[in-house]
Amino acid sequence: MPRQKNLSMAILSVVLIVFGLLGGNPVQAADAEQLFKFYCAQCHGLEGKGNGPNVGKEFPVDPRNFTKAEEMQKLSDADIKNVVMDGGPSASKSPMMPPWGKTLTEEEVDALVKYLRKLCNCTGKAG
Ligand code: HEC
Repeated sequence: MPRQKNLSMAILSVVLIVFGLLGGNPVQAADAEQLFKFYCAQCHGLEGKGNGPNVGKEFPVDPRNFTKAEEMQKLSDADIKNVVMDGGPSASKSPMMPPWGKTLTEEEVDALVKYLRKLCNCTGKAG
């Protein structure tokens, strides 16, 4: 009865997907690194230095170098979160910085903010 087997497989995968979504594992530091490498490194560079392979002459401004504490210190965690969620223009920055709010969850963006703080080794301005 292959049909029935297919059905139970289908049900099983739905159950697994639902549990996966509800499980809502908090995003771990290691995951943040993966997210960064996957979504951000092509522009910001694997080490966050703003020199990813995607950056060419069409970039009027270089992507932020996240290892520059003196620059990153000017941004609060909320500033970073907003620009990542809503993109460069939302913060009067270059549109080459895309909005990620539709791709990433808030938890993932929060984890990325923490990851960027590790790269700059700075706390950022309060607020
Ligand atoms: C297509 C290239 C590109 C990708 C991909 C990209 N960025 Fe950017 N990002 C930029 C550019 C260009 C700027 C500089 C904007 C400016 O200074 O006007 C920038 C700036 C920033 C800033 C600094 C904003 C500020 O106020 O100084 C943050 C924070 C940031 N990006 C985070 C991220 C994160 C996190 C990701 C991955 C989820 C990411 N970016 C992916 C191009 C990119």
